[in-house]
Amino acid sequence: MQQRANHPQSVQDAAALLRQGRLVALPTETVYGLGADAANADAVLAIYETKGRPRFNPLIVHCADLPMAEGFVIFSPLARRLAQFWPGPLTLVLPRRPGAQVCDLVSAGLDTLAVRVPGHPMARDLILALGRPIAAPSANPSGRLSPTTAAQVRSLFEDRVPVLDGGPCLAGVESTILAVVGDEVVQLRAGAMPRDQIEAALGRSIAQAKADGPITAPGMLKSHYAPRAQMRLHAVGPEAGEAYLAFGDEPVTAGPLCNLSPSRDLREAARNLFAMLHALDAEAVDRIAVAPIPPEGLGEAINDRLTRAAAPRHA
Ligand code: TXA
Ligand code: MG
Repeated sequence: MQQRANHPQSVQDAAALLRQGRLVALPTETVYGLGADAANADAVLAIYETKGRPRFNPLIVHCADLPMAEGFVIFSPLARRLAQFWPGPLTLVLPRRPGAQVCDLVSAGLDTLAVRVPGHPMARDLILALGRPIAAPSANPSGRLSPTTAAQVRSLFEDRVPVLDGGPCLAGVESTILAVVGDEVVQLRAGAMPRDQIEAALGRSIAQAKADGPITAPGMLKSHYAPRAQMRLHAVGPEAGEAYLAFGDEPVTAGPLCNLSPSRDLREAARNLFAMLHALDAEAVDRIAVAPIPPEGLGEAINDRLTRAAAPRHA
């Protein structure tokens, strides 16, 4: 890897880098992704090496539209109904189409592929300019917080990865991941597309995957999205020496304070979550206390990320 990256100034510049087999961090509506040409095995390998990501953890294949996705996975009628949410923050795990031009490392040897059509127009333009799907995990070293701005990506990788700047991410948490298994829809990861919204559109309920169930997202480690500081959840206020991440009312506190949403708006809270954890983490505090967040709607994804951030760390 070169010392300092030359950042692409346009979608065409970024596409040229991808065509050369280089990695490019790209904006999506959820979080920034660390992208590679999904058909280039060396480039995909470089994603795993750059992130320090275990090779058993497969990547999402980002497509420009549904017809492109159909070249790589097989849609059942039920899966096609879920694709109504594209472009958008929803990833579908579907059977891989035989002969799909995606290197095996992308799916980590599974016979399914995770596909999504991102909502950020710059991401779709980049895929169109490349002419093929882009494999991309979130653009963070494995286990760290996902980035929602280009500046965060630059700092997470010490400015060694070229970043296409598309502004701050609108959603701020990763996509919701659903697997379609026969006639059943299972949620593998809560995310920016609230489960209750999909259930309402589909007219059926969606089960949450169990950790020991037949299908899981291999990347859903208990401790993940971890800031450096220790986290204390459902805290009505900070204790001495703690920073506080508020939601709604703010307590009087001497320590560092961020408010996810003074008006208790869950969309605003999701958008602010990682950036504020990054900011409080950068304050060199040892502990961050977090206000209770309601569990409904987007609250499911926010609480999921907070629970992982608070979990005991891997060595
Ligand atoms: O919003 C997002 O989804 C962002 C942006 C960049 O698109 N991407 C993202 O990728 O969050 P990543 O790699 O951080 O998370 C992808 C998750 C992992 O937990 C992985 O295990 C799971 O998707 N996954 C990928 N392929 C899978 C498959 N075939 N079966 C089950 N889970 C899969
Ligand atoms: Mg990730």
